[in-house]
Amino acid sequence: MTAILFVGDVVGTAGRRVARAMLGDLRAELGADFVVVNGENAAGGIGITPKTADELFAAGADVITLGNHTYRHREVWPYLQERRPIIRPFNFLPSQPGRGTVEVERGGVTLGVVNLAGNLYMNHAAPHLLAVEEALQAVRGADHVLVDVHAEATSEKVALGWHLDGRVDAVVGTHTHVPTADARVLPGGTAYVTDVGMTGARGGVIGVRREQSIAVMRTQMPQRYDASDEDPWINAVLIRCEPGRRAATSIEPILRPLPAT
Ligand SMILES: [Fe+2]
Ligand SMILES: [Fe+2]
Repeated sequence: MTAILFVGDVVGTAGRRVARAMLGDLRAELGADFVVVNGENAAGGIGITPKTADELFAAGADVITLGNHTYRHREVWPYLQERRPIIRPFNFLPSQPGRGTVEVERGGVTLGVVNLAGNLYMNHAAPHLLAVEEALQAVRGADHVLVDVHAEATSEKVALGWHLDGRVDAVVGTHTHVPTADARVLPGGTAYVTDVGMTGARGGVIGVRREQSIAVMRTQMPQRYDASDEDPWINAVLIRCEPGRRAATSIEPILRPLPAT
């Protein structure tokens, strides 16, 4: 039995604090063989830097996935080209640095991870339901496969779940920062959830300090956004995979506050 812990978008300092404090214990408690973390908001709430990516790897991430904020910080562009298990959506343009799939190994079992971007608000290069075929080719030798579909529209994620049902172990949605209540194993054996949620401050507005977000909505004037620190939580899912087969037996939401120290 192989277990994968997938952690929703890590946002800012609060999200990284949760990752540092909780990933090691959760891996042990849940018996997770692999930990995959969406890190697109790890640096200050938008994007990721080499330093914050290194911090997530040190906290226990085996693979980092990304999303629409991938290129916010210039210094990460070359980092994405080096041989690290950090991937950006596969269906970005070839001109955009980085790779969209990766394979990692633990105890003789391999996990292929695919990152895809939806269409709405995402500027992708190719529709994710088409691009996924080439992405799956790249990880065809992997024992288990997890797809992180980073998308705004629920329909784009639901459609991909059905499209891949029976072909991959899991399709997990990211980007909206709000966990959905639809985690289940589809009839063909693919674990699915529309959005895993966010790992960061639940006291903000999807990660942003709430007074800033409210002020923008009330005044329709720009204002600086800072990542909130209030009430940090982890939002993740645990997927248990069938041995010797690309299928899941369960998917369970893991939604917990950062324990008080
Ligand atoms: Fe995000
Ligand atoms: Fe995003």
